[in-house]
Amino acid sequence: MGTWDSLHKQHVDVFIRINLLEKALLGLLQNRATGDMKGAASLQKDFLKAFEQGMILHFAVEEEALFPVLARAGEKPRILISELLAEHKSIMEKHNMIVQTAAVDKDKILLELIRELADHAKKEEQSIPSIISQLTPEQLNNIDQDAKRLGYRL
Ligand SMILES: [Fe+2]
Ligand SMILES: [Fe+2]
Repeated sequence: MGTWDSLHKQHVDVFIRINLLEKALLGLLQNRATGDMKGAASLQKDFLKAFEQGMILHFAVEEEALFPVLARAGEKPRILISELLAEHKSIMEKHNMIVQTAAVDKDKILLELIRELADHAKKEEQSIPSIISQLTPEQLNNIDQDAKRLGYRL
């Protein structure tokens, strides 16, 4: 399996997790949680664990293996990649706020994080495949080698 296919599979997993978590967080924030605070708390914990175990490397693979090649595919891809990098930064800032501080509104920040992450992954799904399809087998192979070097399992 190639790097993009693996990233794509993670996006699908993220969409499922985010969907569940968004409902739970909205319930918490609107005080509509009907006795399922524990369920919401464990969904949050699971999401943060999955984020740390999967998404951080996912971002690294995109930033260091995939994006540099895509950015060289033309002016439009170059602009797209700069937008995607800014989105990574914003998502990571929110993650850091959640894990490093005693912020009282962590639920709210997490809700913002998952919404940004869902929009971001959707944007990648809509824009990256057509750029990938223009790459040569050699470029694709270089991406895979760089991804593996980062410890990404294809
Ligand atoms: Fe990304
Ligand atoms: Fe991604």
